[in-house]
Amino acid sequence: MGAPVAALLLVQLLVPVELEMLGWQDQDVLFPGGEGGQIRVSPVAQPYVDLSIPGPCGQRAIGSRVVGGKDADRGRWPWQGSLRLWGSHTCGGSLLNRRWVLSAAHCFEKNNDPYEWTVQFGELSAMPSIWNLQAYYNRYKVDEIIFSPKYLGASAYDIAMLRLSSAVTYNKYIQPICVLASSIDFQNRSDCWVTGWGDIQEDQELPSPYILQEVQVGIINTTMCNYLFSQSPFRYNIWGDMVCAGDPQGGKDSCFGDSGGPLACERKGLWYQVGIVSWGVGCGRPNRPGVYTNVSLHFEWMRTLIARSSIHRPDPWLLLLCLPLLWSTPFLQPSRVQQSS
Ligand SMILES: *[C@@H]1O[C@H](CO)[C@@H](O)[C@H](O)[C@H]1NC(C)=O
Ligand SMILES: *[C@@H]1O[C@H](CO)[C@@H](O)[C@H](O)[C@H]1NC(C)=O
Ligand SMILES: *[C@@H]1O[C@H](CO)[C@@H](O)[C@H](O)[C@H]1NC(C)=O
Repeated sequence: MGAPVAALLLVQLLVPVELEMLGWQDQDVLFPGGEGGQIRVSPVAQPYVDLSIPGPCGQRAIGSRVVGGKDADRGRWPWQGSLRLWGSHTCGGSLLNRRWVLSAAHCFEKNNDPYEWTVQFGELSAMPSIWNLQAYYNRYKVDEIIFSPKYLGASAYDIAMLRLSSAVTYNKYIQPICVLASSIDFQNRSDCWVTGWGDIQEDQELPSPYILQEVQVGIINTTMCNYLFSQSPFRYNIWGDMVCAGDPQGGKDSCFGDSGGPLACERKGLWYQVGIVSWGVGCGRPNRPGVYTNVSLHFEWMRTLIARSSIHRPDPWLLLLCLPLLWSTPFLQPSRVQQSS
């Protein structure tokens, strides 16, 4: 890893400002690629083309609150996290990059103290055996939970970002998902997926060994969704940042315990998160599709958070490495000064 790190340091010294504006973190660039585990350096993977969160994302190496679902294979949903309050599964979440996890704000209604939460990645079971040391190794502490400023405790703007206290190690079973500034391309898709460890029926918990469930759902447009929710016995309004998905006939849905998890769709071999499991009326009932938070509407907020944290808190080891390099190579200093003034 020596050579790429040195190269990265040079890049950082020369163009610190642009990189910070992109929210690009040194750690997001070193990515063990799919082919032969090579280290690929891709500092500007897709930041402008599609306006996604910088860094590689949405790739899966392995090619069911989920009602009507089935057991997932390990590595099929490598961005899926289990948010754990005092060690037990409480909500779902998704990995955006090495430091950030996306989830639903309502998951933290009872407890929003970051130190009492951890996030587990790379495991199929929400309750791994106590002998599974890898599962404990893949649990990360949370040091900040940030709610959307628009979230007022109701069903709209149900989105939260979690900053992890250490960087996630990627592997075949742990990879980040992509998020786009616009999800308009996905609005008619009938082949998206919801994943989670929630209940498999109303009042029926996921049985042991608590394997991640997956179910295919279609996006239901707001007009159609409002029509469905206007059917008796009760009327609900779909508005703001809500996206509906499921099957109008019922039977395919997310359920309690899936909250915060991703609604994801594939495009050209990459996976994008379109929604966050937010709320529903019961689970899998006819005329009551699941309601998700439209992630794209929060793209700017997410991007700003990620970018800001990489400016305010550079990794200490990087600073330590930078200082000797500055002292020993004075010719680099003028260009740095010019760039940043
Ligand atoms: C999310 O909201 C944007 C802006 O209103 C909209 O264009 C997009 O289609 C929505 N996404 C989905 C999947 O409906
Ligand atoms: C989705 O369907 C509507 C109505 O059928 C159509 O007007 C719109 O162009 C479609 N959007 C996409 C992205 O295919
Ligand atoms: C909404 O979905 C319904 C049913 O799939 C479809 O008939 C209608 O054209 C869609 N409307 C828009 C604006 O996409």
